[in-house]
Amino acid sequence: MTTPKSRNITWSHSDVKRTDRARRNGHRGAILWFTGLSGAGKSTLARGVEKALFERGCQTYVLDGDNVRFGLNRDLGFSPADRTENIRRIGEVSKLLLDAGVIVLTAFISPYRTDRDANRELVDDGDFLEVYCRCSLEECERRDTKGLYKKARAGEIPEFTGISAPYEEPLTPEMLVQTDEHDGAACIAQILAELERRGILSTNRGD
Ligand code: ADX
Repeated sequence: MTTPKSRNITWSHSDVKRTDRARRNGHRGAILWFTGLSGAGKSTLARGVEKALFERGCQTYVLDGDNVRFGLNRDLGFSPADRTENIRRIGEVSKLLLDAGVIVLTAFISPYRTDRDANRELVDDGDFLEVYCRCSLEECERRDTKGLYKKARAGEIPEFTGISAPYEEPLTPEMLVQTDEHDGAACIAQILAELERRGILSTNRGD
């Protein structure tokens, strides 16, 4: 962790522990870090998983790349440094929500492995689950739901991930979701099954 700029600051501890929150919620908090190309289905999947979790009575929240850039990160663009700062801030926000007992689902391209790994390091083992939404560039470009690939190919969007900016694939993601081979329902079911297997959804694991 980088040393804070501020001096003379002291950490203040809460009397409400993570285990207390988990007991009341009936599940542990966790960060589900969706990563993948634009158009790979990160937001759609995150929203689908959130809905399923919410219906099971879980505390959940989705942090979405496009949305966050309207507010918290409106000062950031798509240069490598800005993307790194974007992901760093979301890592910190996710950590706060995790502390609040929430199952956080983040949907950011997060193209750099070191940035994702830095966020993994922010929290305890098992709290950060990388969900790689793998979809070929050809398929993302064929879908082109936002019309951005067309613009990027025409040179109208500089530094576009997959076209003129890099995407570094996760090497050992906790979950690999093949969004160009399976439909949304199957991908959601895969993620929910993995959350159950890892005990995120069970009521008796508060730590
Ligand atoms: S990240 O690289 O910093 O993680 P983030 O997930 O916040 O990206 O935002 C990606 C979204 O911004 C894309 O889904 C797309 O809608 C939009 N976008 C606009 N410009 C770009 C660009 N140059 N590269 C990638 N996505 C872009």
